[in-house]
Amino acid sequence: MKEIAICVGSSCHLQGSEKIVNIFKKLINDYQLEAKIILKGSFCQGNCTESVNISIAGKQISGVTPDNAKEIFNEYLTEGDI
Ligand code: FES
Repeated sequence: MKEIAICVGSSCHLQGSEKIVNIFKKLINDYQLEAKIILKGSFCQGNCTESVNISIAGKQISGVTPDNAKEIFNEYLTEGDI
């Protein structure tokens, strides 16, 4: 089971973290990974200038946008051992 934490702090919220939440929700559903991935919101991850920040299994990833969210998801969550 892997955990994705998407920052919903004020800076990331203003940069569109809600859109990222929705994109990740859809990808989890599309790939039928509901039993393998937990998606949650988090408070500020301490890197506000690089919004939107997320962490996947504890690894912080910055600069997530609607344009690169799928690529990041595929890189970290659909290959290998999840
Ligand atoms: S508000 Fe997201 S890292 Fe600070």
